[in-house]
Amino acid sequence: MSKRVLTTESGAPVADNQNSATAGAGGPLLLQDQHLLEKLARFNRERIPERVVHARGSGAYGHFEVTDDVTGFTHADFLNTVGKRTEVFLRFSTVADNLGGADAVRDPRGFAVKFYTEEGNYDLVGNNTPVFFIKDPLKFPDFIHSQKRDPFTGKQEPDNVWDFWAHAPEATHQVTWLMGDRGIPASYRHMNGYGSHTYQWTNAEGESFFVKYHFKTNQGVRSLSTEQAQEIAGKDPNSHQTDLLQAIERGVRPSWTLHVQIMPAAEAADYRFNPFDLTKVWPHTDFPLQRVGRLVLDRNPDNVFAEVEQAAFAPNNFVPGIGPSPDKMLQGRLFAYADAHRYRLGVNHTQLAVNAPKATTADNYGRDGFMASNAQGRAAKNYEPNSYGGPAETGRPLSAPLAVTGWTGTHEAPLHTKDDDFFQAGELYRLMSAEERSRLIANIAGGLAQVSRDDVVEKNLAHFHAADPEYGRRVAEAVHALRED
Ligand code: HEM
Repeated sequence: MSKRVLTTESGAPVADNQNSATAGAGGPLLLQDQHLLEKLARFNRERIPERVVHARGSGAYGHFEVTDDVTGFTHADFLNTVGKRTEVFLRFSTVADNLGGADAVRDPRGFAVKFYTEEGNYDLVGNNTPVFFIKDPLKFPDFIHSQKRDPFTGKQEPDNVWDFWAHAPEATHQVTWLMGDRGIPASYRHMNGYGSHTYQWTNAEGESFFVKYHFKTNQGVRSLSTEQAQEIAGKDPNSHQTDLLQAIERGVRPSWTLHVQIMPAAEAADYRFNPFDLTKVWPHTDFPLQRVGRLVLDRNPDNVFAEVEQAAFAPNNFVPGIGPSPDKMLQGRLFAYADAHRYRLGVNHTQLAVNAPKATTADNYGRDGFMASNAQGRAAKNYEPNSYGGPAETGRPLSAPLAVTGWTGTHEAPLHTKDDDFFQAGELYRLMSAEERSRLIANIAGGLAQVSRDDVVEKNLAHFHAADPEYGRRVAEAVHALRED
C-alpha cells in the first residue's frame, strides 16, 4: 500500500508535522508557516453553538418498516404499503444540561426521528414523555431558563426549578411523570418515544384525523433509581452514549414498535379533554393504540460531530398526508427549530449529508448564503415562474385545511368538559403501585426540600394536593420531615 501523504487543506504536501518553522533553530516562529497557521486557526473554530436545549445527545441510523395498513387515515407515501422500508436517523438526548453533561440524570429524553422519505424528509421531534410541562410556547424560554444554569450562580438551582413549577399548575402532570420511575431511563434503548403533540393525518379522500404517535421499546422499559443514576453518572457520564454505541457495534439492533392513536377530526371539538393541549394524554380506553410499523437502529454514525452535532430536526418538516394540529406548543415549535438551525449551523444546513433528503432531491430556487454547495445544474434559473422548465408547485396542500372561527388576540386555550390542570396528574398517581408512589414521593421531596422559600414549597404542595389528596399529604409530610432534619 502506498504511504498516504499529509496535506494542507488545499491539498499541498506537508513537509514537517512535528516542528514549526522558526527563524533559526532557537528563534521565533515564521508567519509564512502556512501549515501551523491553518492548524491553529482551524482548531479555534472547531466548536459551534450547542443546542440551546437537548445539547447532549447520541444518534444512529436505521430503517422504519410498515407492518400494518394505515392508508385509511393517511396518504403519506412512506406509510402506504405494508413491508415498505424508509431509512431513518434518530437522535436521542437529555434536555437541560450542556454538551458535557452526564447522561444518567432525571430529565426528559429527546426522541427525534428523521424519516428520509421519497417525498422529502419527515421529522418527528418527540420526547420519551407523552406530555409536557407547559401548553403555550410563550412560556418556553422562561421554563428553560428556570431549569438550566442560573445566570448568577452558574448552576442548576432547585429554587428556580420549583419556583417556575409553583407558577405553572399545568406542569403537575409532567412533574409527576418525571419524578416517577420512568424519570431516569437506564439507557436510550430502554425507553419509549412519543410524538407527544397531536398531529394531523389526511387520507387520499381528503378526510382528516388527529393522531398521537407512540414508539414502544422492544427492549422493555428499564429505569434507574436516583441512587443508581448518581453512581453511574459519576463513573461513566457518557453511559447512554456508551450503551447505544456498543450495542450497535455488537450487532444488537434496538427497535421500537410504532403505534398511533387516531381521532376522527370531527370528534375533536367535543372530546372531554382539549386534544391540542400538550399537558394531557388521550386515555387508551378512549382511543386505543393501533400498530403502524417497526423502527430499527443498526448503524452508528461515522463521525459524531458531522452527523449528530450537525443533525437538524424541524417539526415543520412534513410530507404529504401529515400536518400540524392547532396545538399552540407545536405551532411555536414550527418556527423555533429551523430558526435555531440557521443560527447554529447556517442557512445551508439542509445541504449537510445527515440533513439532506436521501430518497429524493431538494429542487427549489433557494440559492447562495454561507457555505452554499448546491450548484443546481448549469444555468438553472433562480426565479419562478420561468420559461425554462424549472420546478413548479403542485397545487396540492400536504394536509387538509382546518376550520377556524373567532377573534384575533391573546386567548387561553379552550377548556373542554374534563379539562383542568390536575385530573390527569391524579390519574397517573392513582395508577402507580404502592412502591412506585413511595419512590415518587421521595424523589419529589428530595428536590422540593432544597427550596429556600416556604411560599414556593407551599404552592407546589397545593398542586400535588389538587391532583390527589393522598398524594399532596404524603409529599407534604416527606418535605416537612426533610426540612426539619
Ligand atoms: C414551544 C416549545 C418548544 C420550543 C420553542 C423548543 C425549542 C427547541 C430548540 C430551539 C431546540 C434546539 C434545536 C437545534 O438547535 O437543533 C430544541 C431541541 C429539541 N426539542 Fe424542543 N422546543 C419546544 C418543545 C419541545 C417539545 C414539546 C418536545 C417533545 C415533544 C421537544 C423536543 C425536542 C428535541 C427532541 C430536541 C432535540 C432535537 C435534536 O436531537 O436535534 N421540544 N427545542
